Amino acid sequence: MKLSFQSGARQTKTPLCVAFGFEGKKPELPDGVELPKRFAADFKGEARCVSVTYTTAGAAERVVLIGLGPAKALDAETWRRVAAIAAKQAESLGVAKASLFVGDKALAVLGAEVTGRAVAEGAVMGSYSHTAGKSEAKKPTLGSLEVRGAAGLRKGVARGTILGQANCFTRDLQNEPGNRMTPRHLAAAAKKLAAKSARLSCTVHDEKAMKKMGMGLLLGVAAGSTEPPRLIHLTYKPKGRSKGRIAFVGKGLSFDAGGYSLKPSPKMDEMRYDMSGGAAVLGAFHALASLDLPYEVHGIVPSTENLIDGNATKPGDLHKGMNGTTVEVLNTDAEGRLILADALTYVEEKVKADTIIDLATLTGAVVVALGHEISGMFASSDRLRDTLLAAGQATGEPVWPLPLLEEHKRSMRGVVADIKNIARGDMGAGSSAGAAFLSYFVDPKTEWCHLDIAGAAWGGVARDWVGGPQGSGVGTRLLIQYLETRG
Ligand code: BES
Ligand code: MN
Ligand code: ZN
Repeated sequence: MKLSFQSGARQTKTPLCVAFGFEGKKPELPDGVELPKRFAADFKGEARCVSVTYTTAGAAERVVLIGLGPAKALDAETWRRVAAIAAKQAESLGVAKASLFVGDKALAVLGAEVTGRAVAEGAVMGSYSHTAGKSEAKKPTLGSLEVRGAAGLRKGVARGTILGQANCFTRDLQNEPGNRMTPRHLAAAAKKLAAKSARLSCTVHDEKAMKKMGMGLLLGVAAGSTEPPRLIHLTYKPKGRSKGRIAFVGKGLSFDAGGYSLKPSPKMDEMRYDMSGGAAVLGAFHALASLDLPYEVHGIVPSTENLIDGNATKPGDLHKGMNGTTVEVLNTDAEGRLILADALTYVEEKVKADTIIDLATLTGAVVVALGHEISGMFASSDRLRDTLLAAGQATGEPVWPLPLLEEHKRSMRGVVADIKNIARGDMGAGSSAGAAFLSYFVDPKTEWCHLDIAGAAWGGVARDWVGGPQGSGVGTRLLIQYLETRG
């Protein structure tokens, strides 16, 4: 679906116009468009309510009215949601093109830039569908959507389009099944991305390079698979002077069967999404290629499968990480932290970033604690915590702080080796234990945040802009928002 912008309130000929209205108020229509009287009177404007009618006058054949709720409750996420609903309505009505009208009253609440951006994000994300696996995919009928309204919207619409497209790119990576999105496929996607922009570059490390660097933890997870692991390293260089060096690290487990600590069969197929952190990082670079941000940004994605065979790691095995720390692998299903550990050491030794943010579908426990809409956040500084909290709020990809205490770190101390990869069985706080493990691989002086996105990466149904059980693309817009507001 192509998204464009037209300034002004005069409707030009279109089969469908989408318009909005506040609760208890008349909907704002583009100039010349008139609705059947009783239909207009029936519109109540509750948030996300939808009604459709043919017009009685004007250049639009049909109108879809969508409620915005009360003006004082209107936020960017509501815009994202109603714009996503608009795109889905247009698709289900079978029109080839449609117009989305943002009136001046509706625009005044959040201002043109924020509104334009949220509307474009929602429309682009809402029109997403994943059909790559179908032998005869039904093409979407909605080819183009124009956003219409005051000229001030243009800038936000352009930016929102870039961010919406980046989210869709992330979801395309997530939604491919494990046999079609292996570590090598993920690495190829990163290379292809880097080739599109002179500001991006990409290095991919293979097994041989990993051995040379001493990445025994990452290799220990990969040992049970015939599919070779990859360590992806993307770099974005800003046009002008850099305001800092930031590293995004994403867990890229292309399929997590659990290894010898095998997962139960029901829902095991969902472990194709265990590369969602890595996908979110690649998606951020998709956006970076089209934006102009003043940071040197590094994207590190350790990628492997976690399977079983004669070479696989056994519970109790000992592996040594790149930073020299030895680890007892008591549970082979706690593999994400192992591959991230070597990736974090790699960042500390080779990238030397000012700030590291890692994203990982790390623990089932975070789904229990926070559900499918919110990600768990472990931030080493108040500044980073507050910036990410605000970024989560602004993007509709909320994060919430969880504790990482000395006690959690102590619980990871090993008997045979330096540390173990799971805490004592009766400890609880599984997400904090995961974060505590990772902390052994980050310099205490480095500003660092671990985001556990195991709940939010897929399976949420409340977000209209996802609209299903598949990958949500969460993380990508959050990381860009972080860069835009870091200061
Ligand atoms: N990829 C899983 C985490 C996960 C589980 C994400 C369910 C989404 C839904 C991770 O590798 C894992 O298996 N974690 C274990 C850790 C445990 C063995 C300490 C878990 O959460 O059960
Ligand atoms: Mn696992
Ligand atoms: Zn996993």
